[in-house]
Amino acid sequence: MNNIIVSGMRPTGNLHLGNYFGALKNFIALQEKENCFFFIADYHSLTTHPNPKDLKQKVKTILAQYLACGLNPEKATIYLQSQLPQISELYMFLNMNIYLGELERVTSFKEKVRQHPNNVNAGLLTYPSLMAADIIIHKATHVPVGKDQEQHLELTRTFAKRFNTMYGVNYFPEPVAYNFENLIKIPSLNGEGKMGKSKGENNAIFFVDEPNMLRKKIMKTKTDSGPVEKNSKKSQEVENIFTLLKLVSDTQTVKDFETLYDDCTIRYGDLKNQLAIDMEKFIAPVRERVKEIENNEEFMVKILKDGAEKALISAKKTIKEVRDIIGFWI
Ligand code: TYM
Repeated sequence: MNNIIVSGMRPTGNLHLGNYFGALKNFIALQEKENCFFFIADYHSLTTHPNPKDLKQKVKTILAQYLACGLNPEKATIYLQSQLPQISELYMFLNMNIYLGELERVTSFKEKVRQHPNNVNAGLLTYPSLMAADIIIHKATHVPVGKDQEQHLELTRTFAKRFNTMYGVNYFPEPVAYNFENLIKIPSLNGEGKMGKSKGENNAIFFVDEPNMLRKKIMKTKTDSGPVEKNSKKSQEVENIFTLLKLVSDTQTVKDFETLYDDCTIRYGDLKNQLAIDMEKFIAPVRERVKEIENNEEFMVKILKDGAEKALISAKKTIKEVRDIIGFWI
């Protein structure tokens, strides 16, 4: 176990299959073999000014759902960003050596400016320096990142390198992406692009969806008029249903439906019905566990307290050493 992995999750609401198969499932595998720090990026969410009740609720929701899916506090260090004030101290130090132009060129910043021209606060601009602080506070070597976070990670390397050069030390490692093999793109239920909340609640399958809701969403997915030639290529809509089936059904079931499709004897109603049954089997245990965890606030608080205690060891050590390197007196 040599690699130090750090990843942050924004408290954005309910988890869907795309979150799980895109990232979380890999985090769950990583915690078995590496030294993982997983935190909820609640400082970052202040860039959009949530009210205190919203912030608390969203943090609870995401924590309960990540735990229910299998993030394990015995294996990974799980905490809230705001439990480590050392992160904000490092963020401030980093900001002294980061230039306006660099931050203004970040794609996600430009996008936010376009979307919310009346809320271009300094926190939004310095989102990448806070993210860099999250990562290097534990001297991370690897960060599991999706495509959209690659530029942030590149900047993290720049900032780490700059600190080292500036003070003539070889202190911060330059963290690289942890690449997962076989990343699957989970399609949105309406067939357009990948599953995500921005496509609308009905186009994603959430771990908190009740059985009726799940079935309704699945039965409503688009298909085509059916194969007319043996062994023909599937339309995108039908391919998407098969993609979902492969995630939750056993291989024999998938094979049986593939054969029916190839024979042109498939009935899409049966296919969707099977998907609804197997999806419910997959989702139900997590959904029940989410309820249990959400009703046990003490359990969540204990996990966070224990997690922060562990995370604070490296955070305090880094800040002490960084202060020495920068040259603070006492
Ligand atoms: P967010 O909330 O979009 O996603 C949470 C984390 O999951 C990673 N991820 C993936 N990793 C591998 N393969 C994928 N397909 C995939 N999809 C998503 C994201 O890269 C992220 O690590 N800005 C971050 C939150 C953040 C953060 C950090 C992440 C704040 N500080 C420090 C890493 C390290 C974000 O919006 O992630």
